[in-house]
Amino acid sequence: MKIKKIGVLTSGGDSPGMNTALRAVVRTCAYNKIECLGVVRGFQGLINDDIKVLKTRSVRGIINRGGTMLYSARSEEFRTKEGRKTAFKNVKKHGIEGLIVIGGDGSFTGGLIFQEEFGIPVVGIPGTIDNDLYGTTHTLGYDTALNTVMEAIDKIRDTAISHDRLFFVEVMGRDAGHIALNSGIAIGAQEILVPELNIGIKGLVDSLKASKKNHKTSSIVVVAEGDKTGTNVFDLARKIEEIFPKYEIRVSVLGHMQRGGSPTCFDRVLGTKMGVIAVESIIKGDYGIMIGIDNGKIVSTSLKKAIKGKTKIDPELVRISKIMNI
Ligand code: F6P
Repeated sequence: MKIKKIGVLTSGGDSPGMNTALRAVVRTCAYNKIECLGVVRGFQGLINDDIKVLKTRSVRGIINRGGTMLYSARSEEFRTKEGRKTAFKNVKKHGIEGLIVIGGDGSFTGGLIFQEEFGIPVVGIPGTIDNDLYGTTHTLGYDTALNTVMEAIDKIRDTAISHDRLFFVEVMGRDAGHIALNSGIAIGAQEILVPELNIGIKGLVDSLKASKKNHKTSSIVVVAEGDKTGTNVFDLARKIEEIFPKYEIRVSVLGHMQRGGSPTCFDRVLGTKMGVIAVESIIKGDYGIMIGIDNGKIVSTSLKKAIKGKTKIDPELVRISKIMNI
């Protein structure tokens, strides 16, 4: 049976490239003569019946814009059976036959439950800066976030060098260290603290001592927000200050600036590919999957695996960072 209507929503933390993927979904629907309905503010929009028709021209001028034109939310109501029942009532009312969810693991969990409860086909596009989904080497927005972090820390480095300072820079990533590890290598960090590897205070102290011995006058330590070396980055900096009272230490938390901005070329191409394939998958009757990328090729993984499977940080990058911080 030919699909006539597809719904699309963006959910959870926004990420650069969500708009690009949205544009690709809308235009692939139009190309295949399918009506595309945009759900405003994620799953909450399904409950509130905040749903609008998206045509080819509705998505003009957004390929380069950060954020999401459909707005995003983390819906508490959708976590309840009652909330999902209301959402499904609206799905039926609008004749939506398949749903494309652009978001992270929380959004995929909601999408999967919705599919299992009501039989509505769901396909996920991994939109998150954290790169923490199994089944894709890159999530949408990760590359842009890395470049944003790199540019921000490059600027911090100017001050670090001018004032002989030690900077602790906290980056996002929730429980994953991908942003920290990759940006840390790109900015030449003295040490990179990630939740996946615990070098402990001693490991950090040894590294800083070695850097002093090698006549380093300033350093940057990149700390993933999920790292547990200190209670938080400020506590960690205080502990190091007690051990090295002569160091002039500063802390910088980059925060939400990492989620914004115009997507990089990589994320625009990735978002476009993922949007096209997501629609084509629903047309083919292939759902309950997340669209990913591996070695430049588009791949798919079951939503279950994408959520449950753990991503690993690259041990080769860890080894390389150790050589670089000599
Ligand atoms: O998942 C994206 C992310 O930015 C994480 O890196 C971070 O832990 C979290 O969202 C922050 O969430 P909020 O915007 O709700 O503060």
